[in-house]
Amino acid sequence: MTAYLTIRDVAKSYGRSTALHCIDMDIARGEFLALLGPSGSGKTTLLRILAGLLDPGRGTLILDGVDMTKTPAWERDIGLVFQNYALFPHMDVRQNVGFGLDMRGIRGAEAERRIDEALETVSMREYGTRRPGELSGGQQQRIAIARAIAIKPRLLLLDEPLSNLDAVLRQSVRIELRELHERTGLTTIMVTHDQVEALTLADRVALMERGEVIQVDRPEDLYNRPASAFAAAFLGSPPANLLPVAPGNAPGTVSISGVVWTPVGQVAQAVAALRGPARLALRPETLRLVAQEVPGAISGRLKAVEYMGGERLAHVELTGADAPAPVVLVRSADALPETGQVVFVLPGAVTGLYDNESGANIAPATAGEY
Ligand SMILES: Nc1ncnc2c1ncn2[C@@H]1O[C@H](COP(=O)(O)OP(=O)(O)OP(=O)(O)O)[C@@H](O)[C@H]1O
Ligand SMILES: [Mg+2]
Repeated sequence: MTAYLTIRDVAKSYGRSTALHCIDMDIARGEFLALLGPSGSGKTTLLRILAGLLDPGRGTLILDGVDMTKTPAWERDIGLVFQNYALFPHMDVRQNVGFGLDMRGIRGAEAERRIDEALETVSMREYGTRRPGELSGGQQQRIAIARAIAIKPRLLLLDEPLSNLDAVLRQSVRIELRELHERTGLTTIMVTHDQVEALTLADRVALMERGEVIQVDRPEDLYNRPASAFAAAFLGSPPANLLPVAPGNAPGTVSISGVVWTPVGQVAQAVAALRGPARLALRPETLRLVAQEVPGAISGRLKAVEYMGGERLAHVELTGADAPAPVVLVRSADALPETGQVVFVLPGAVTGLYDNESGANIAPATAGEY
């Protein structure tokens, strides 16, 4: 990949606390990258550094071959959309959209044409004379995006752009955002802590944890092969089960919290890499509940069933495990037995096997693919 934007060794501290450690990332021209991570992981800090609103303590930013580390925000040609839209309440829609153009000395017919074009792009042409207060949340969001793209930015930065919208609007604006990206080809970086947003919109997702980018991957690779237990436990709803495992006493056996388990097939192949204590990641949708004991199954007791509409989430407590006994979540489309019954959990694939010492995924690369 030839990099359009290069983030090299960027770090940021606020006083004595480090908000960003050492960010190294290349973004391709036209790429849509999502910065995903829990609250406080440094997403906004990184975005603000890219926008030039925050001085990095260290490191280099290169955009299209030119070092922009010291370039002031207004000379970077970056379109920025904040979480709260930040539209000017006293200006109408056209004035809002034209603001960045005016700042750049683009006025008159050229400005009018660019405003029309930007409003057209977000399907808001007929709202030009309204004030922001006379628009719905989703419409304000689209105006904020129109304002950002009117300047034809070299980079579009979005900070939690959909977080103020209700579930229905979120989905429709999400689809619009993807279409907009395909139409304009703008290199886009979007901050979100919503994994569905990141996985559905982005070409690649950068997962952040405590000021570090811990994995950058295509959505399906991030989901199917999380590089760390943190990634496995962050993605998915509910996320992957993480079971404490260790090699068993007999060959081919694994101890799950003290319970002897003999995996079979593809799962056995994946778990064969086990040398010491580790955490085994099993996704709830790759597990099957069976009523009879079959080879490769783990026995447990059905503790609770959550009805989720269309499917159920079974909570299975492993039988005979060291206290506190691990509870495995299984997603099931089928009707389930009464709670309290003995059931068997049959894993179909291994999402990850994380060595306790190194933290690395030691499962062979092909094992997790399904
Ligand atoms: N102006 C500031 N002064 C001191 N610490 C700050 C400042 N801004 C952010 N931080 C700290 O830096 C860390 C990263 O903050 P940041 O806003 O980048 O997180 P975030 O990933 O965007 O979180 P959220 O999802 O909650 O928006 C946090 O620990 C935060 O408390
Ligand atoms: Mg933030």
